[in-house]
Amino acid sequence: MKICTLGAGYVGLVAATCFAELGNEVICVDVDSERISKLKKGIMPIYEPGLKELVDRNVKEGRLEFTTDAKQGIRDAEIIFICVGTPPKEDGSVNLEYVETVAAEIGRYMNGYKIIATKSTVPVGTNEHIQEVIRQNQKNKVRFDIVSLPEFLREGAAVKDFFNPDRTIIGTDSEKAAEVMVKLHKPLERVGKPIMVTDIKSAELIKYASNAFLSTKISFINEIARLCEKVGADVKKVAQGMGLDERIGSRFLQAGVGYGGSCFPKDVLGLMSLGKQHGVDFKIVRAVDQVNKEQRTYLINKVLSVHKKLGDKKIAVWGLAFKPKTDDVREAPALTIVKELQYLGAKIKAFDPVAEENAKKILTDVEYTKDPYEAVKGCHILVIVTEWDEFRNIDLQKIRSLMKEPNIVDGRNIYEPAEMKKFGFVYKSIGRPDA
Ligand code: NAD
Ligand code: UGA
Repeated sequence: MKICTLGAGYVGLVAATCFAELGNEVICVDVDSERISKLKKGIMPIYEPGLKELVDRNVKEGRLEFTTDAKQGIRDAEIIFICVGTPPKEDGSVNLEYVETVAAEIGRYMNGYKIIATKSTVPVGTNEHIQEVIRQNQKNKVRFDIVSLPEFLREGAAVKDFFNPDRTIIGTDSEKAAEVMVKLHKPLERVGKPIMVTDIKSAELIKYASNAFLSTKISFINEIARLCEKVGADVKKVAQGMGLDERIGSRFLQAGVGYGGSCFPKDVLGLMSLGKQHGVDFKIVRAVDQVNKEQRTYLINKVLSVHKKLGDKKIAVWGLAFKPKTDDVREAPALTIVKELQYLGAKIKAFDPVAEENAKKILTDVEYTKDPYEAVKGCHILVIVTEWDEFRNIDLQKIRSLMKEPNIVDGRNIYEPAEMKKFGFVYKSIGRPDA
């Protein structure tokens, strides 16, 4: 099939590349000319494992091309995916300006029947609005169908998630569009991982409800972690025991510094805002957001329990991205934590395997280092904010010898307290006894 993706970010670029890999002809459009010229040269604008190899192969084999020319992309395609950003406004509601811009372009340039599928996360009712905007901008009144096709991929595992979705949700009121979309996604369907066709509004809400529910699991376990510390229980064991119940499941029960990223924080606010608009007061989701914000302060308080005054202290921070295997620092807990530690007077040395460049755009007065060992040299405290694998497999003896004082505050629970004690560390983590 002939496909166009509008937006070449995490969602658009991954979808374009993976649909090309499935044998479709794809044009990937972005307004950001620097991004497109990088992609044309084979340089990935984002860090995403496995993506470059797929882009290179599909460009070489002629199934994938990049352009800033929306008109060309829209005219050539049978299916158009809207993959532009939907950032939050000040009041938590969703900024739809990018979606509206591409919808107007689709209307303007449309030259025959098209299916327009929205992958961007948008509030209930937005696809209807997109339909209206397209109609208003159409010069020739050609037919088109609208589909809500929420995206569920995770950054850092985006390619893997694309090819192994837990489910594909197709929201449409058109039989023809449903048929085409089912055919397009058929290669991704597996036993127990169905394609579900539903109405547009339910599809739109499935996305928000899913992200808010996953966020709820995280804030829930973070509150349990606080209680664990008071009563002497271990949150990792509690989560493991809970997760053995299939109705609960073990995933997204890792206590830590709270969730970040461009989606959970924004979508939790988006759902609250949508509820408010329709007279539904989302008490649970409001608490989820509040607990998540507190969790960063919770980590800072742990640092302050090591040294009350940070004025003359050097602190190493490991991990700047909002999670491992990505260079994305949007809403990363590390940003708030570093700024707060600096405000309290600490000097910061920081290391992240891939997110340094993005962090540099936001964090100033930080000494960035090329490896985790260099970061801890001469430091009074090491604070772990992102659980990259290379931190798990580190030479702890060496870390101990490089630090000025052997203090670790682990915001991701990557080590065992008893083992850390053996190495001579003062070790504080989340929801577990100190060592
Ligand atoms: P992103 O910021 O990485 O990418 C958006 C891209 O759209 C940018 O490159 C931007 O230049 C481009 N763009 C803006 N206006 C345009 C226009 N008029 N024409 C063409 N391109 C335009 O965003 P993202 O992370 O890919 O997220 C996109 C949407 O998907 C959001 O609604 C997000 O909530 C949702 N989503 C994201 C993820 C994720 O893991 N990042 C997962 C699921 C859903
Ligand atoms: C999340 C969802 O997992 C995707 O399904 C969804 O498509 C995406 O949002 C989106 O809508 O954009 P992502 O934000 O890439 O994906 O990353 P996650 O792996 O979900 O992690 C989000 C945050 O939660 C990270 O900061 C992570 O550290 C934190 N987290 C996750 C925890 O604190 N504990 C956990 O147990 C799991």
